[in-house]
Amino acid sequence: MTQKLALLGGEPVRTQPFSPWPVFGKMEEERLLTVLRGGKWGKLNGAEVAGFEARFAAAHGCRHGIGVVNGTVSLRIALLAAGIQAEAEVIVPPYTFFSTASAVVESNAVPVFADIDLDTFNLDPKAVEAAITPRTQAIIPVHFAGQTADMDALMGIAQKRGLVVIEDAAHAHGALLGNRPAGSLGHLGSFSFQSSKNLTAGEGGIITTNDNALAEACRSIHNCGRIAGGVWYEHHAISGNYRLGEFQGAILNCQLDRLEEQTRTRDANGQYLARKISQLPGIHPQKRPAACTRHSYHLFMLRMEEALFGVPRPALLKALQAEGIPCSGGYAFSLHQQPIFRNRAFGPYLAGAANRLDFSQAHCPHSDLVCREQCVWLEQSLFLGPRSDMDDLARGFEKIFENREALAAWSRQNQNG
Ligand SMILES: Cc1ncc(COP(=O)(O)O)c(C=O)c1O
Repeated sequence: MTQKLALLGGEPVRTQPFSPWPVFGKMEEERLLTVLRGGKWGKLNGAEVAGFEARFAAAHGCRHGIGVVNGTVSLRIALLAAGIQAEAEVIVPPYTFFSTASAVVESNAVPVFADIDLDTFNLDPKAVEAAITPRTQAIIPVHFAGQTADMDALMGIAQKRGLVVIEDAAHAHGALLGNRPAGSLGHLGSFSFQSSKNLTAGEGGIITTNDNALAEACRSIHNCGRIAGGVWYEHHAISGNYRLGEFQGAILNCQLDRLEEQTRTRDANGQYLARKISQLPGIHPQKRPAACTRHSYHLFMLRMEEALFGVPRPALLKALQAEGIPCSGGYAFSLHQQPIFRNRAFGPYLAGAANRLDFSQAHCPHSDLVCREQCVWLEQSLFLGPRSDMDDLARGFEKIFENREALAAWSRQNQNG
């Protein structure tokens, strides 16, 4: 017999909370206390951040890791280190967090939006090719939700045109393309350790690379323009202090010890849920190419087609939440439709490029469609629990589908989509 939806007065699928986030224990407490009592709290006199940089880089297939204060600054430093010129163009997806494009403007370069693939939510290489102009100098693919972008195609395009590729891997700690880790697939990689991320110290970020010269440039830029072998008050670049501190380094080292197992759990659970709910009409979990051998599931994403599933997205989200399943619709609109890109009030940046900045011309129908009416996001911590948690998530979707007519009627009455 069909069970009544919690939104319409029935019993919820889930009354217990899912796995908590962040995960921490004695290991973090003791390591923090050791740093506290040791009195070496800054990166340049301690060993935690330096040790973490080396371990994180090695775990992501790179010789170099430069820890920085967040995953926005890491993108900007990567662009500066790569020598992207003033008012050059950098291709970015429109379906990503603000930083992917704001870091480009903060580097005094022009973001150019190329659409995503509707099924993978990642940058579409064909759209990238179409967006290239003589001014293009870089591409920033985002490994969205933790699934690597089509890096072979993108690196092929970049090589042909002499472009720099900076991976925005803010979601992709531990993700793999074949046997190659995210962060080692482009010329530079950028990760975030902000509090929602799969590896976190509250805030933080890191740049990864296998290129010695790029690493040296990033190290200098993140450290007030100092250089290896220089004296303390000797500065070679206009820059600031973007270093991580030792408390963050201590937490990050502990969290890195947990990452491998957490990533395996998320990946197995995410794949299981995707298999289960893709049986429902109109539910399309993020399509996973065979080459994406490990998904870090920072987000579990799906597209819901109202015409097939039978209810509008706002009603689906409300009904899932009432069933005890935390979820959201993600970005409400594509990045180029943000007020700042419509208004182009960039302050001191891009003054000489003003006459060619018109973001209303960006044509990104896939991104627009998923923002407007289709996307559903479930966060990474839901995927850290037992398999029975996945059965509850799947049950929530199934129950809503079984009750789609009642929910659609409720939605019409409540003008809810
Ligand atoms: C895709 C993406 N890039 C960059 C960032 C920026 O990271 P941070 O918040 O550490 O500056 C984020 C953070 O949410 C992100 O999701």
